Amino acid sequence: MSNNNYTVHLHPKGNSIEIDGETDLLTALREEGVYIKSSCGGYASCSDCLVKILEGEDNINSPSFEETQMIGNVFHITKERLACQVKVEGEVKVDLSRHDESADAKKLTKKNNRFNKSKAPVKKRSRAEVDEILSERKMKSEEKEKKRNSWEKHWEKEKDGIKRGTGGGKRPKPFRTDHLDDDPDFKKKS
Ligand code: FES
Repeated sequence: MSNNNYTVHLHPKGNSIEIDGETDLLTALREEGVYIKSSCGGYASCSDCLVKILEGEDNINSPSFEETQMIGNVFHITKERLACQVKVEGEVKVDLSRHDESADAKKLTKKNNRFNKSKAPVKKRSRAEVDEILSERKMKSEEKEKKRNSWEKHWEKEKDGIKRGTGGGKRPKPFRTDHLDDDPDFKKKS
């Protein structure tokens, strides 16, 4: 083991790997065949590679700007870091219990099945089925029209040949001028 190699203890399996100070934790784990979930390929943009530092938090680098953008600046509370951003500078112990390969594979299969179902071929209808649907639609629209003409807007229907409109059917009040009959000015004008 060279001086630049450090031991990373893996929880819960209890095994360990060696890592140099240059390689990030995600790459090192993958090189050793340890499963770590990742969707972004190590660019601090999916947060799938989250691990918990159980021991040796002083032996790792500080979170990068990209990392704090993803998981906030609360490492001292949660002890969680993105494996793809972690560089090790001493002995550490990390918790990988959230990275369960078989559970993730099951989830992926389920997701794929759902996707494949949603891509089921469009059902083709026969000519008879199409005609039936069209006649049903026509019937419905005729019924609707009938209903519209029967009771709805009854105030607009014609009664005794007179088209009734809105406004309560009242006649306008006549404009009274009889009180002006004795007014000489009014007579002059008319
Ligand atoms: S691999 Fe995506 S954030 Fe680390």
